[in-house]
Amino acid sequence: MRRFIFITGPSGSGKTAVGKILSQKLGYEFLDTDEIIKQISGKEIKDIFLQDGEDYFRFLEAKVIRDVVQKEGNFVVSLGGGAVINPQNLHTIRNNGIVINLLGKPEKLFERIKGSREERPLLKGDSPEERLKQLILQREKWYKINDFYIDTTEKTPDEVAEEILNFLKLTSLIDFVRVNLAERSYDIVVGYKIFDNSEVLDYLSAKLKRIFPQARKTAILSFHSIKDVMYSDEKTTGEVILDFLSKLGLETFELNLPEGENTKDVFYAIYSWNYFSDLDIKKSDFLTLLGGGVIGDLGGFIAACWLRGIGYINIPTTLLSQVDSAIGGKTGVNTLKAKNMIGVIYQPSIVISDIKFVETLPDLEFLSGMGEVIKYALSLSCELYEFLLKNKESILKREPEHLKKVVSLSSSLKAKIVSEDEKEETGLRMILNAGHTIGHAIESSLGFSIPHGLAVVLGLIAESKISSAILGNSKVYDAAKQIFYEFFSGVDWSKFKKNIDRQKFFSSMKLDKKTRGNKLKFPVIVDVGRAEIYDIEIDRFQKLSEYALEDIEKI
Ligand SMILES: NC(=O)c1ccc[n+]([C@@H]2O[C@H](COP(=O)([O-])OP(=O)(O)OC[C@H]3O[C@@H](n4cnc5c(N)ncnc54)[C@H](O)[C@@H]3O)[C@@H](O)[C@H]2O)c1
Repeated sequence: MRRFIFITGPSGSGKTAVGKILSQKLGYEFLDTDEIIKQISGKEIKDIFLQDGEDYFRFLEAKVIRDVVQKEGNFVVSLGGGAVINPQNLHTIRNNGIVINLLGKPEKLFERIKGSREERPLLKGDSPEERLKQLILQREKWYKINDFYIDTTEKTPDEVAEEILNFLKLTSLIDFVRVNLAERSYDIVVGYKIFDNSEVLDYLSAKLKRIFPQARKTAILSFHSIKDVMYSDEKTTGEVILDFLSKLGLETFELNLPEGENTKDVFYAIYSWNYFSDLDIKKSDFLTLLGGGVIGDLGGFIAACWLRGIGYINIPTTLLSQVDSAIGGKTGVNTLKAKNMIGVIYQPSIVISDIKFVETLPDLEFLSGMGEVIKYALSLSCELYEFLLKNKESILKREPEHLKKVVSLSSSLKAKIVSEDEKEETGLRMILNAGHTIGHAIESSLGFSIPHGLAVVLGLIAESKISSAILGNSKVYDAAKQIFYEFFSGVDWSKFKKNIDRQKFFSSMKLDKKTRGNKLKFPVIVDVGRAEIYDIEIDRFQKLSEYALEDIEKI
């Protein structure tokens, strides 16, 4: 269980009372950030507001939150009602613990605090009850991002604490991976047999109702080949998802698209938008994407453009989409000559990654996902690299426990980068392109007949050879080859790597989105688990790739 349980919510929701009971039951220490602020400033909160202003109070609050998460031990922390509206505070608490939001009818909350309202500076004035209502409304979009919500209106603090304890049991079944983008933050929920577990489903239902309170309809975008796969002995994947969404009281509509990369075409986006017009899909409704990277990329793009942006949830069903494409909001379609040339960055509201889906993937699709996992290992995480080598057998057998760890670790690596550089402005996100400059060119020169992640893994071998040539030592290249042979020696590469069309290969490379003038921004893997962006002249890169390509053709 996480070391920190944070409790947020408006005044009167019972954060302190519930926090104290919860800490006793868990054997955790209880902290109240307002109390710490009083101690360090030597003043009452209302006096800080009066004498030093709200900004100074928020500054102290942020400092206290940063300090609290450095503490050793286990804590239940009650936060001030406005703490979560500061994105930095929100990121800190989401990265370090579970965040619980207590809610309640404003009239009831006001009744609870009537006697002490003079102590509450934000409720000063003629109509404090109205002010409380306004504050709740203003903070709603921030409170929505929390992990768990409880309406405390008709409940005692003991009952609320009990509900939180039940929720905390869930955290042993599912991992929460955070994408932190201020009010657009969302979670990736990773678990095994999620859609078979009533407790997890109850949690997800409550969460979706909270995110889309006025939704009446959802359109499910998928392939038949995914929906018809058996999820359990009795039900197909499509049936299980329909059951789940229908229980939310939603009218569901199915949009089954043809399988394959060619579906990432603006034609299918137009087809879907026309269908949505017939269905009268409104801004308050949402889309459900059920599938791999093709459905995710296309569906996210469709969602971004419909009514200039409608919410969507992503239920990725391939390993590749769970570890990579479902996270970070890169959505789009291909053009005739190159992949992903049209698109926008548009984030989902939640990603639900069920490891159960990975069990039914064809071998090559599974290994395609491992290609992206190995990208993270080589360019971002030595820990993941070691974990993969140590647990190779069970990962290749797709044992849920180890796969869940692979998906959670990989998702965390990507989520962290997206949280820091969503729009590729600092260069950090470009590191996620390791293996892709050459990988995309291979895909394109083979007419997209190779699964994406397999092209990436060939790209990684070639690019680590280039990295080693640039750095003047073979360490990275050796490490890439070692992990490649451990995981991919069973693949019949002959059908993919032969006859890479050089002309198509180089013309596709020139279309790479990382080119600036005559230079390419290239992620050089400088050590296992670490990559840096180098500017390389395209002519030089082309020569280096020619030499690396020969190597791939010998595999
Ligand atoms: N947006 C991003 O950040 C990003 C990152 C990486 C890749 N991508 C894109 O992702 C796409 C590749 O994604 P993909 O590899 O998931 O391909 P995909 O979506 O085509 O799925 C691969 C195959 O697996 C089948 N399948 C899916 N789930 C299944 C299941 N549970 N059981 C059995 N079969 C199942 C599908 O029917 C399909 O034939 C490419 O278009 C690539 O450009 C995007």
